[in-house]
Amino acid sequence: MTTILDGKKVSQIYRESFKEEIENYLSRGFRRPSLAVVLVGNDPASQVYVINKRKACQKVGINSLYYHLGENISEQELLGLIKELNQNPEVDGILVQLPLPKQINTRKVIETIRPDKDVDGFHPENMGKLVANVEGGFIPCTPLGIKLLFDHYGINIQGKDVTVVGAGYIVGKPLSVLLLNMNATVTVCHIYTKDLKKHTLNADILISATGVPHLIKEDMVKEGAIVVDVGISKLDGKIVGDVDFEKVKEKASYITPVPGGVGPMTVTALLLNTIKAYKMHLNI
Ligand code: GUN
Repeated sequence: MTTILDGKKVSQIYRESFKEEIENYLSRGFRRPSLAVVLVGNDPASQVYVINKRKACQKVGINSLYYHLGENISEQELLGLIKELNQNPEVDGILVQLPLPKQINTRKVIETIRPDKDVDGFHPENMGKLVANVEGGFIPCTPLGIKLLFDHYGINIQGKDVTVVGAGYIVGKPLSVLLLNMNATVTVCHIYTKDLKKHTLNADILISATGVPHLIKEDMVKEGAIVVDVGISKLDGKIVGDVDFEKVKEKASYITPVPGGVGPMTVTALLLNTIKAYKMHLNI
């Protein structure tokens, strides 16, 4: 029997507890937590993600401030806005949706966000804390969301052979470090990997974060493996993941669907990080 790892349902459970926690703070006279969401340009996928994040904030009682900037805005203007948000004591978290238009240096933007408001966990100070395995930093939302999903289902990571396909800055790289911190034996594959199938077949837990639709076929998955699909792409007008879900699910013991798997968990982790920033700022 295959268990579907239901990110939508699990998110609801976590978010209900966030809502209660925030209501408790409000009843004690504290202000609401708040997240500043910055979107540059009109990329349709980014617009959908940003709408989802803002709706989720509203539902649990986090204020969301929205800044929608034009495609042609200068780097200086964007950095100016971030510096203002850094200074604003009412703002707990700052999220700049990626990718950014090409005239803007993404690295500079990430490094301008104050680390204590960096709820995406992309600032090198937060990445450094993750590698150092010390408390007090922010873990990027997709890796943290996957951990929350495993926690909910009681999936134990320690000692497992985990293969992560994709080594990007947003998911693959920080996720590999997080899993290593949880005592997994981690293999990281990327476009230069010589024999991808060899590594995916070895995995007790296989996590794909490439954005290549249906990259992971059934003959690449070990019988009984746990399969986590981070990809979101369009194939013939349909939203699909990195995993050929219908076939792979026959072999997997647990598998995430797309949509409704990792996606909602990423947003849930963002809410968790924003509440963490809020509590740090108010010392509660
Ligand atoms: N673009 C794709 N994933 C993410 C994410 O987790 N955070 C931000 N800010 N942008 C993204």
